[in-house]
Amino acid sequence: KKIKLDLKNVSPFVDEATVEKYAEKASDFRNDLLNGTGEGSDFLGWVELPSNTPEELVAEIEDVATHFRNTVDVLVVVGIGGSYLGAKAVIDALSHSFDMMTQENENPIILYAGQNINEDYLSELKEVLRGVTFGICVISKSGTTTEPAIAFRVLKALLEEQEGEDASNYIVAITDKEKGALRTLADQKGYKTFVIPDNVGGRYSVLTPVGLLPIACAGFDIKALIAGAKEMQKHLLLTSFESNIAMQYAAFRNALYDEGKKLEILVNYHPKLANISEWWKQLYGESEGKDGKGIFPASVNFTTDLHSMGQYIQDGERTLFETVLSVALPNQEIAIPETEEDLDNLNYLAGKRLDDVNKSAEVATTLAHVDGGVPNFRIIIPRLDAYYLGQLIYFFEFACGLSGYMLGVNPFDQPGVEAYKKNMFALLGKPGFEDETEEINKRIEE
Ligand code: PA5
Repeated sequence: KKIKLDLKNVSPFVDEATVEKYAEKASDFRNDLLNGTGEGSDFLGWVELPSNTPEELVAEIEDVATHFRNTVDVLVVVGIGGSYLGAKAVIDALSHSFDMMTQENENPIILYAGQNINEDYLSELKEVLRGVTFGICVISKSGTTTEPAIAFRVLKALLEEQEGEDASNYIVAITDKEKGALRTLADQKGYKTFVIPDNVGGRYSVLTPVGLLPIACAGFDIKALIAGAKEMQKHLLLTSFESNIAMQYAAFRNALYDEGKKLEILVNYHPKLANISEWWKQLYGESEGKDGKGIFPASVNFTTDLHSMGQYIQDGERTLFETVLSVALPNQEIAIPETEEDLDNLNYLAGKRLDDVNKSAEVATTLAHVDGGVPNFRIIIPRLDAYYLGQLIYFFEFACGLSGYMLGVNPFDQPGVEAYKKNMFALLGKPGFEDETEEINKRIEE
């Protein structure tokens, strides 16, 4: 079984000839992804990851995960952007909604740091870690990113205070094979390390140790995740446009963009998918938002946000479209109880599963939004488990590569993220930024 893409509520909004224009180019762009003949070809290592990940690497990741699961109560994953969002997305999608309250959870609680520079956040994290047996999984491809480097410095100090000489047994670093400050530190201190392949960029790295190790530490089945991705890889690499869901998604969203639909909202009806949206926003926003172009990726959680953003989507500016993640079958079951008095007038729903009501909300909303001029993609996920998440991840990654090429951008670079860093380093007086410091201080004083 595979995840499916339903285009029924998109087709009426696009010109057939425009879709055809993109469809015709889809296999060439797929060849570019496979053969490295397009832009950004140094960063295509993710394309073959599902079929190429060695069993020994998976076994090594599982061994290290077992070590952490046996020795720590909390694992802090330190990273930002592509070095954190994928792990968080998958862990949250697979975890019990009230994980911290469940007694039987034998796996470490996963917490995150280095994804912001907020003093209250890090102080409060330190507060809860004091006296607790915790480990650190620090992730940075460059090994020099400011946010995780600061968080790691602070948390390492606490760990050393608590564990003394043993601290390095509680740390694992995932970084470049030779470059960067984190590599130097890890080698000197003798931390266990995993390598982020040179040819895989941050936002495409969830199926490398960057995502796999934290996910395995949280107790989830990384083999199933990879197997799902591999199944999707096979499908996307072999099928033609008529059945290829990544080619279709890429072509139709570009056709919508040409029609003036500049904003895509990823919608879910399942709170566990909220962070899949965060991961997806980085993937598409960083890959396509450049050269003055690109669909702006946004997200909502329904039905929650139907009571807030629903108004805008139904009635606001008509420049948006939605992509709905629809989980076909819930993993749990709960039916609406009957009451004798029926004071709340809900007996007409008695005996119905909550999922039936949720699905009715989904169908009703889709129809209303389509009537309001909002095209709707629907991605049907048979169940929320590691296997189908693997499929979803690979589908979105592959479609993103194709879609970026259709848009005429390099989907594998991110020159725009450097601008704030340059200013921040200048303001902080980082050695090597003396000229910039002088310039920015003048600008501020003016
Ligand atoms: O996609 C990207 O390249 C970024 O989001 C990076 O993953 C992020 O900036 C973290 O970089 P690093 O892993 O080098 O610390």
